[in-house]
Amino acid sequence: MGIAYMPGFGNDFETESLPGALPQGQNSPQRCPYGLYAEQLSGSPFTAPRGTNERSWLYRIRPSVRHTSRFRAFDAPHWKSAPNIDDSELPIGQLRWDPTPMPNEPTTFVQGMRTMTTAGDVHTQVGMAAHVYAFNEAMEDDYFFNADGELLLVPQEGTLDLFTELGRMEVAPGEIAIVPRGMMIKVGALEGPARGYVCENYGAKFTLPDRGPIGANCLANPRDFRTPVAAFEDKEKPCRVQVKWGGRFYETEIGHSPLDVVAWHGNYTPFKYDLSTFSPVGAILFDHPDPSIFTVLTAPSGEEGTANVDFVIFPPRWMVAENTFRPPWYHRNIMSEFMGLIHGQYDAKEKGFVPGGMSLHNMMLPHGPDTFGFEKASTAELAPVKLEETMAFMFETRYPQHLTRYASETKTLQDDYLDCWDGLKKRFDGTPEGKWD
Ligand SMILES: [Fe+2]
Repeated sequence: MGIAYMPGFGNDFETESLPGALPQGQNSPQRCPYGLYAEQLSGSPFTAPRGTNERSWLYRIRPSVRHTSRFRAFDAPHWKSAPNIDDSELPIGQLRWDPTPMPNEPTTFVQGMRTMTTAGDVHTQVGMAAHVYAFNEAMEDDYFFNADGELLLVPQEGTLDLFTELGRMEVAPGEIAIVPRGMMIKVGALEGPARGYVCENYGAKFTLPDRGPIGANCLANPRDFRTPVAAFEDKEKPCRVQVKWGGRFYETEIGHSPLDVVAWHGNYTPFKYDLSTFSPVGAILFDHPDPSIFTVLTAPSGEEGTANVDFVIFPPRWMVAENTFRPPWYHRNIMSEFMGLIHGQYDAKEKGFVPGGMSLHNMMLPHGPDTFGFEKASTAELAPVKLEETMAFMFETRYPQHLTRYASETKTLQDDYLDCWDGLKKRFDGTPEGKWD
């Protein structure tokens, strides 16, 4: 660990777990050191502009084409892909869920994936899916890669042991990780069961947002992103590779661990990021800027300023604005907002939105502070206040998010979410002051 990574900006890294394993001066020598095979993993078209061109050269014990059986289909009934429009019969609405329960039966990361929403179309590589994972068993001889998109992992409980082709990372709650499209992984947890959120991004890769007039500093800084160093398994035993491809699942047998990359160089890599290193920028006199000021990573759609999906956080910060309603105001949005809470309390919803829970405020559906939040923020003494011990996040996409049947039928769906706005009174009485009792 320890190599800073700047998503999408073309850095090139190199790392080897045996001395001299990395060929120098040439990507594909006639014979690689240690008898390794050279293999390129392309994360962008060959001809992508230099600033967005991503590929890595992997030097591995066997090429990944070496598997011992043909692929066959298998069922992962709760991991859905867009388009998945008719899966749920629940009418549109503002929705909120309690935390997903931990499994009782032995469950791996792949088996424990539950899709909540899908958006766009996996076949044309636009849109995303929002999932939760909950698992209690490490993948031992099972490996997985997702050809349909990159995975943004947001642990909420339990530290992930994320072993990728390019190295191994521990990813704790409060950190996030990106697994690039097509990269082999196996996932365990350091201790206990693990739960978290996943954004499966079908579209262009997540990158850092432009800062505009903010300048060269703040928000997520490139130096805080970390790629792994090379690490490999030299394991000769029956293993299984599972693949998500075109919204379907396939598996094949393999006689060895596919995490056998001894050295690599390139810029198509997994990475992790500690959310506490995000430097928020906000109002320092009055008014409430849009939550886009808290964008950690953005996946562009091709239309300027319109993300395929943004990853936004609501981190600890000082609230100092004068004469300003400080929680997010009521609003309606062309974008669709899927929110989760990693820990603590969210300032617009102090009750009901709990760590491990979720909410969905879909395209053009109104939402905002609950009655308690409105009353409190409307009458609060406006001294500087620090929001501490809190970390909420949002997957915000330009596409409507369609519910899965699981999301609409699970017991964790809150029937009474709408009631949180019930007590909002008429304050208008024809006087400029309004009626405040
Ligand atoms: Fe919103």
